[in-house]
Amino acid sequence: MKYSDDIMQVMFSAEQIKCRVRELAQQIAVDYAGRRPLVVGVLKGAWIFVADLLRELDVPADVDFICASSYGSGTSTSGEVTLLKDITLDCRKRDVLLVEDIIDSGVTLSWLKQMMIDRKSRSVNIATLLSKPSRRKVDVDVKYVGFEIPDEFVVGYGMDYDERYRTLQDICILKEEVYSK
Ligand code: IMP
Ligand code: MG
Repeated sequence: MKYSDDIMQVMFSAEQIKCRVRELAQQIAVDYAGRRPLVVGVLKGAWIFVADLLRELDVPADVDFICASSYGSGTSTSGEVTLLKDITLDCRKRDVLLVEDIIDSGVTLSWLKQMMIDRKSRSVNIATLLSKPSRRKVDVDVKYVGFEIPDEFVVGYGMDYDERYRTLQDICILKEEVYSK
């Protein structure tokens, strides 16, 4: 039972991810120069991205985490989102940067963004490592995107299938048979 046996294809290698994360951090550092953003990582998938992004980021930033779960239903377009874990820092008058692993329907992120706006954050931007634009159900303005990808289910670098594969260093597509196990 090895994770590597379940991988069909590597979509982005650890090296490619590292380069892109560094570029994003440089862009964010320029945009947030002179400010001290509150980086809010969306659990669980974003934990590794947050850790790598912040260590490449040459501006002071506070970090917190939030956990939300969205239940998309075939009939509703808006979806339903539940807050499972809130941030502990105060986001009022802060420049919030929401950091997500992957944006699919956009339901979770648009809901979280609106919540931060309602809480009177000074600004709210979104950074995501991956985005699947073809899957979008709600329009959400994403300022920083690592890679746009086709409609494929990916794992690794924090992302899971049934809580597995989060610790893979590459971002991978699983073999078909894994889903039928
Ligand atoms: P949405 O944008 O609200 O539909 O949800 C995005 C969340 O769904 C992400 O944060 C992931 O947790 C999960 N997700 C969507 N696509 C994938 C994928 O390809 N692999 C792993 N998790 C995914
Ligand atoms: Mg996520």
